[in-house]
Amino acid sequence: MAGFGLLEATGAMIEIIQADITRQRVDAIVNAANESLLGGGGVDGAIHRAAGPRLLEACCVFGGCPTGEARITPGFDLPARWIVHAVGPVWRGGGYGEAALLDNAYRNSLRLALDNKAGVIAFPAISTGVYGYPKEAATRIALRAMQDFESEFERIVACCFSFSDADLYRRIHEETTP
Ligand code: AR6
Repeated sequence: MAGFGLLEATGAMIEIIQADITRQRVDAIVNAANESLLGGGGVDGAIHRAAGPRLLEACCVFGGCPTGEARITPGFDLPARWIVHAVGPVWRGGGYGEAALLDNAYRNSLRLALDNKAGVIAFPAISTGVYGYPKEAATRIALRAMQDFESEFERIVACCFSFSDADLYRRIHEETTP
């Protein structure tokens, strides 16, 4: 379906939007964090600012998180109930296991959300900002993971920060949906 935003599949769906993820009233939003889990720039900085200082306290407890894994905290001052902190890889040319690590970051986030009974989850485009992962390749990995888990969620939201990223997600989603 070529409509704006909603791309349907039997009951479950992947929704592609252009928005600020910190404003999403969903069960869980995903953060594109770093291994320290102590905050940073980009979406991570925006999430920490919007969630308030209790988020940093909660993140300190983990003692970091390896690339490809994820940890969960409450959303604190956010409209979202949970924040899944996922650590994507830094792009180093593609020969350092980046694709598998990015795939793990998505799938571990989806599993952790399911373990916490989240029915609606929103993702940013992990690793495609400061970490430099090429957007098209990253989008294919993101959508494949979302498609594999689609039936287990009420809704999976790909929350793009720019209209051009949302267009890229829509094109690849249409291309890869039977
Ligand atoms: N809502 C949705 N997406 C956003 C928002 C927002 N409010 N702000 C940025 N993006 P990045 P990374 C998009 O750099 O590449 C941090 O310093 C952005 O346009 O946030 O995984 C961490 O602490 C891009 O598409 O994350 C790490 O050190 C996407 O989010 C490092 O950056 C990811 O960009 C992680 O780098």
